[in-house]
Amino acid sequence: MSELLKVTGLNIGLVNAEQPIVENVSFALREGAALALVGESGSGKTLTCKAILQLLGTKTFHVSGSVLYRGTELLSMKEQEIRALCGHRISMIVQNPMSAFDPTVKIGAQIVETIRAHKNMTKKDAYAAGCAALEKMNLPRCSQLMNSYPHTLSGGMLQRIVIALALILEPEIIIADEATTALDVKNQKDVLEEIEKMKKRGIGVLLVTHDFGVAAKLADDVIVMKDGKMIERGTVHQIFAAPKEPYTKALLKASLLEKEDRRD
Ligand SMILES: Nc1ncnc2c1ncn2[C@@H]1O[C@H](COP(=O)(O)OP(=O)(O)OP(=O)(O)O)[C@@H](O)[C@H]1O
Ligand SMILES: [Mg+2]
Repeated sequence: MSELLKVTGLNIGLVNAEQPIVENVSFALREGAALALVGESGSGKTLTCKAILQLLGTKTFHVSGSVLYRGTELLSMKEQEIRALCGHRISMIVQNPMSAFDPTVKIGAQIVETIRAHKNMTKKDAYAAGCAALEKMNLPRCSQLMNSYPHTLSGGMLQRIVIALALILEPEIIIADEATTALDVKNQKDVLEEIEKMKKRGIGVLLVTHDFGVAAKLADDVIVMKDGKMIERGTVHQIFAAPKEPYTKALLKASLLEKEDRRD
């Protein structure tokens, strides 16, 4: 299977600080495969995702290393070039869905505009494609939803809209940063199924999650991060059945205990 993304020696630090926040992160993402980045809060998962797409402001962050997308270096690309790629070939589902929308514009207009920015469609067709994708994400009553402002919708609804948009745009790579964390069990299951279908169509998924259960369902390979460093990596089977590092073992145990607590 061909390699979609190759990250080598990625370092991220604050411009005025010596100590890097993310240090020497390397991984490859293949077509139709999912790679999970797991690790506790603050371990550098979101920064890693954002650095790939040059979403970290250069006034605040210093990024070095290499990020190859099908052999093309992204880190040296001009902002304009990389924006033309994002949302089209590489799409990110952000951790905070509210930040993905303009609060002053109704959802429908934003969906139609996003679709038309990447696909040659009439407004009417883009609206219909938007409705079909929303329905897949358990969001019926399309016209009512399209007519709403973002702040009137719940975080879970906004997250499902972001995922619906990612589905329509059919990128080659999806970076899903805690895409299912804000969702209830039913919606989480549906979103995971949709991501699974994307994988089957050859899309590469970089899956960021606290939840080992989510990683177990979707990921082929897992990287465990701690304090900005990769602590352990392996196939999903290796990490779950025979974790080597005490930190990985502790994370797995904590994740299982959390699950039991939720069941009580
Ligand atoms: N804008 C910023 N300025 C300074 N430090 C930052 C900034 N953004 C993130 N950091 C620091 O970088 C580290 C990694 O942050 P990051 O958001 O990547 O963590 P994460 O693994 O995604 O955590 P979570 O699971 O809570 O989302 C944290 O210690 C955080 O405090
Ligand atoms: Mg994060």
